[in-house]
Amino acid sequence: MTSFIAKDAGQIDLADHDSFTQGVPFNYFAELRRNDPMHWQEMKGGKGFWSLTRHQDILQWNRNYQLLSSAQGIRLEDQSHEEYMARRTFQETDPPDHTRLRMIVSKAFSRPVVLEFEAQIRAICQDIIQTIAGFDEIDGVKQVARQLPMRMLGQILGAPEQDFEWLVEKGDQLIANSDPEFTQFVLDKANTDAYRFMPFRSPAGLELFDYAKQLMASKEAKGDDKSILHLVLQPDDQGNRITQEEFRNFFCLLVAAGNDTTRYSIAASLYALANRPSLFAQLQENLKIGVEGNPFWDRAADEFIRWASPTMHFRRTATQDFELHGKKVKQGDKVVFWFVAGNRDEQVFADPSELDLTRDPNPHIAFGQGGPHVCLGMWLARLEVRVLLQEWAKHVAEFEQAAPHQYLRSNFIGGIKHLPLKLRVSI
Ligand code: HEM
Repeated sequence: MTSFIAKDAGQIDLADHDSFTQGVPFNYFAELRRNDPMHWQEMKGGKGFWSLTRHQDILQWNRNYQLLSSAQGIRLEDQSHEEYMARRTFQETDPPDHTRLRMIVSKAFSRPVVLEFEAQIRAICQDIIQTIAGFDEIDGVKQVARQLPMRMLGQILGAPEQDFEWLVEKGDQLIANSDPEFTQFVLDKANTDAYRFMPFRSPAGLELFDYAKQLMASKEAKGDDKSILHLVLQPDDQGNRITQEEFRNFFCLLVAAGNDTTRYSIAASLYALANRPSLFAQLQENLKIGVEGNPFWDRAADEFIRWASPTMHFRRTATQDFELHGKKVKQGDKVVFWFVAGNRDEQVFADPSELDLTRDPNPHIAFGQGGPHVCLGMWLARLEVRVLLQEWAKHVAEFEQAAPHQYLRSNFIGGIKHLPLKLRVSI
């Protein structure tokens, strides 16, 4: 298939996780947006795929689930029908199948329910900062960014505190299945055929299934649990209940989706603040103006999330032939929405590579906005980022990057996995 990319722009293999180990190839995405907004690339060991990189296209086509379906897989890898059926969660279905479960679970993640957690989140942030107060140098990811979503997720799941760390390790083995630091079953390097019926093609999926089964039984036995997950187990107005298989798959999805994404948004925020002192000063000035009723904080959190865009892509499959930007898409072709590229679209965002913490409106698509699968945890993620920023500005007197950072080896989740920081905390 013809490519409209100039030869000297170089071709980057977006299917190769190593293309992301030095950070997101933003220049390449800019080139695609300009010259080849519906870009075809071949994929080693599988079928090739189309890449959509313009904001407007992603927003528009994400709505059209009849034409671009989630029900044949949402990751780049090809799956047989049997693999798909064994591993799918409600994220890998289309309306109306998707709608039933989404209705059951969404009440537990609505904005008003989540806002009730603000004091709890603040207490966790204060505890995290208190813990690092004795250090001159820390890994901002391990000791800060990883901690908050981990502890919140544990509470959402209503899991015992001693299991939180284990759950996050398993979540990392699923989500970061392409980085040898997090798993011995590296997706594109090890033979993972034996695990092809498990979530993310990882044996960690099986351990999480067992854990979910026990947790569901203990929650049903107790009946007095106040966790979000307990709400999910309650029947809806029509008496519909989540089945055991749906619960176990949903549980795995939460452990995977509720963790790394927020972690890498916080990591990107700390990285930006450490390297752009004027942004840190802006946070401190806004503390003086106030935390309550000051719209700055929600805008700042959203802008950091746009800039980080940790969930870089999700895939869809064409249900019939169609044409876009002069390219002929065939039924069964894989089409990838690069949210991370759409969020740097200069047609929509002024100075998109820069952080404007007062950006308003900020029509970013980091949460998959527009489509039926728009992030279930978006209110929680926003709240966690906002409160962390406030507590950081309140208690961290000075900080800077102490040594080079490292990126996750993944074309799916984009993020800094180690961020050495020098700091002075005043509690
Ligand atoms: C900054 C943090 C986060 C980002 C950037 C993010 C991003 C996304 C995106 C792009 C989607 C759409 C998937 C698609 O179109 O197929 C999604 C869906 C989802 N997210 Fe998040 N997410 C974040 C945090 C969370 C958290 C904290 C949770 C849960 C505690 C969560 C749970 C989910 C679930 C369950 C879905 C599937 C929803 C559905 O299929 O209806 N996410 N997320």
